[in-house]
Amino acid sequence: EQPQILTGKTLTITAGPTREPLDPVRFISNHSSGKMGYALAQAALELGAKVNLISGPVTIKAPAGANLINIESAEQLLNESLTYAAHSDAFIGCAAVADYRAANVATQKMKKQGDELTLTLVKNPDVVAAVASLEQSRPYTVGFAAETQNVESYAKGKLKNKNLDMICANDVSKSGLGFNSDHNALTLYWHNQSLELPATSKTEIAHQVIEQLAKHL
Ligand code: PMT
Repeated sequence: EQPQILTGKTLTITAGPTREPLDPVRFISNHSSGKMGYALAQAALELGAKVNLISGPVTIKAPAGANLINIESAEQLLNESLTYAAHSDAFIGCAAVADYRAANVATQKMKKQGDELTLTLVKNPDVVAAVASLEQSRPYTVGFAAETQNVESYAKGKLKNKNLDMICANDVSKSGLGFNSDHNALTLYWHNQSLELPATSKTEIAHQVIEQLAKHL
């Protein structure tokens, strides 16, 4: 039994990819498996928290005891996140949200035409920034930064620009870590401190992240 340091606390965690439809049979997405977000949910549950897990389409099973909310698109993720965040002590944006969606979603399957096809994309809302800008009932807000270069400066930029309380910088250029693997390494940044979490299993690193977060609740 682990010390129930999160008893009475509610965490809302997003996980997995979003899918942005192009037509009835196609979408834009990414390689997120949901493993990192689901491990965070599991760790929080083991420490006694109530957990809302808002998840894009993944093939893994939700931890027992989590309140699973399934979404597909970034817009659906935004709606559910705002609903649950306002009743949460902390919000963790671990989902790999598509930054852009199709400007127009075709109602019929697009037919093959010439040798080139140009898609027009429009920017999606930023979910974790929207949560961090809640004026009432703003939870302690944690983001991730998945980067392949300039990891520290991009992560610190997102911490500041999205008005987050903490960010987990995830160097996703290292093979065997990050997207779709069972292991990860993170550096946590707050506005005035940082903490390196060396490579380990997602289960273990999720516990370390949740324990750090718990100090602020
Ligand atoms: O799912 P796994 O296979 O286990 O992989 C885990 C992971 C690599 C996906 C995860 O650890 C991770 O890094 N998640 C964040 C992925 C991401 O979208 O990073 P980003 O740097 O593009 O976004 C920064 C932050 O803003 C993230 O908290 C993201 O959830 C959020 N965001 C981004 C765009 C958007 N429109 N809305 C958002 O809320």
